[in-house]
Amino acid sequence: MQTDLSIDLDLIRRYNQPGPRYTSYPTAPHFTDEYGTEAFRRDLSEASSNTPLSLYLHLPFCQSLCYYCGCHMKVTQNPETIETYLTALKQEIDQLAAAVDTSRPVVQMHWGGGTPTYLSPDQIRDLGAHLRHRFSFASDAEISLEADPRTVTAERMAAAASVGFNRVSFGVQDVNREVQEAINRVQPIAMVEEAVGWAREYDYNGVNVDLIYGLPHQTLDRFDRTLDVTQRLAPDRIAVYSYAHVPSIKNHQRVIDQEALPSPDEKLRLFERALERLTGSQNGRAYRFIGMDHFARPDDPLSVAQDEGTLHRNFQGYSTRAGAEILALGISGISQLSGAYAQNVKAFPAYYDRIESDRLGTYRGYRLTSEDRLRRHVIMQLMCHFHLQKADIEERFAVDFDRRFASALEWLKPMEGDGLVTLTPEAIHVRPEGRLLIRNIAMAFDAYWRTDEEQPVHAQTV
Ligand SMILES: C[S@@+](CC[C@H](N)C(=O)[O-])C[C@H]1O[C@@H](n2cnc3c(N)ncnc32)[C@H](O)[C@@H]1O
Repeated sequence: MQTDLSIDLDLIRRYNQPGPRYTSYPTAPHFTDEYGTEAFRRDLSEASSNTPLSLYLHLPFCQSLCYYCGCHMKVTQNPETIETYLTALKQEIDQLAAAVDTSRPVVQMHWGGGTPTYLSPDQIRDLGAHLRHRFSFASDAEISLEADPRTVTAERMAAAASVGFNRVSFGVQDVNREVQEAINRVQPIAMVEEAVGWAREYDYNGVNVDLIYGLPHQTLDRFDRTLDVTQRLAPDRIAVYSYAHVPSIKNHQRVIDQEALPSPDEKLRLFERALERLTGSQNGRAYRFIGMDHFARPDDPLSVAQDEGTLHRNFQGYSTRAGAEILALGISGISQLSGAYAQNVKAFPAYYDRIESDRLGTYRGYRLTSEDRLRRHVIMQLMCHFHLQKADIEERFAVDFDRRFASALEWLKPMEGDGLVTLTPEAIHVRPEGRLLIRNIAMAFDAYWRTDEEQPVHAQTV
C-alpha cells in the first residue's frame, strides 16, 4: 500500500545528520580481526543445509574514472591485471565451495563493482560456468549484474544471459552533458537506450536504472530531463542515490568543484522532484517508494516482497531473498551469515597472498551476540516495512519490548512530536514523513551508534 509522501524541508534539515545506511547491523566499522578465516570456515561448516545461498562477486575494474565514484574499484586498461584477478577469484570460489555445503541452493547471485560489464564476453561466460560447476543454482534464481552503458555490447549482454543473468542495473546517473562532463562520464542517451534494448532482446526480466542526485551542475530542470528519459526507458526498478561526497576518503572526488555542487536545500529539492515524478500516477507507470533510495513498479518482486513482509536488507540494499546467507567473493566483499559477518581484504596484494595460501579472502568480521540479533531484527523490520509489532519481537526474542527498549522509545518521542512516527502500546509505525528519515529512526535502536564517542565517517541521511 502506498501512502502519499511529501517532503517537509524544515524537518529534514533538522534531522539530516550523518548516519549508517544499515545494510548490516552492526555496521562494518565494528568488524574486528578477532573474526578471521578459521571462524568463518567453522560458521560455514555448521550452517544448516536447508538455508539457501546468495552469492556476491566483486569485480572491481573500470575502464575510466567517474569522479563521483564511492565504490571500491580500480581503473585499468591492462588485460593482464584483470586476468590475474579472475584467476584468483576462481580459486577463491573453489576454496569457498570446499568450505560450504554446495547442495544448498543458490537462489540469488549479484556481480557488482567496479564494472562487471568491463569483462569480455569470454570472461563472463568462463566465470559464470565456473560458478555453475561449483554451486547448485535454483532454476528460478535471481541473477543480476551492474552495467555501465559505455561498456555494454550485445555480445556481453548475450554472454551474461547465456550463463543465467536475468536482471541488470544500468548506471545512468544523469543525462545532462555538462553534468556528465563534470563527473567524467559522458554517455549519450542513445547509448543507454541501446543497452536497455539489448537487455530486453536477451530476455532479462528485470531492468534497473541508477540515478544520482546532488551531482555538480545538476538543476531541477536538468534533473527533470533525466527523469523524463528514465521514465521513457520504463525500468522495473529505479535507484535514486544521494551523492555521497566524501573527499577525505575518496581522494579523486576532490576533482569535483565544490562550488558546482547543489546546496543541501537544492539537493533535497532534486530528491523531492524524483519522489513526486516517480510515485505520481500522472506519468503513466507509477513506481512504489520502497525505502531509502529505491523505487520499484508495483508488480516488481521488490514491491511484492514488501507487501508480503518478506523484504530484506543486506549489503546490496533491499532484496527479495530473505533467509539466504550471502557468500561474498573478491576484494572487499562482505559475507553475511545468519549469525556472523566476514569481510574480504581490500588490497590486491593481500588478496592474492591469502588466496595463494588457501586462506579465503577473509581478514575481519563479527559474530553477532544475541543482543545484536535482536537489535538487527528491529532495525531491519523498520527499514524494510516501516512498521513493527512489539508482540512479534517479544515472541521471537523472549523480551519485554518496552522495558528493553525504554531509552530507544524515549529517543523516538520528539520524532513522534514531529509526525515522523506513531508510537502505540502495541506498535511502532513510521509515518509517510518519516520514511525519508528512516535511518534516523533506526538509529534509536543502534546500541553502537548511541554509545560510540567517535563516529566513523558517514554521508548525510538524505
Ligand atoms: C557499484 S556502482 C557500479 C556501477 C557501474 N560501474 C557503472 O558505472 O554503471 C553502482 C552505483 O553506485 C552509485 N554510486 C557510485 N558512487 C556513488 C556516490 N559517491 N554517491 C552515490 N551513489 C554512488 C551509482 O549510481 C552507481 O551506478
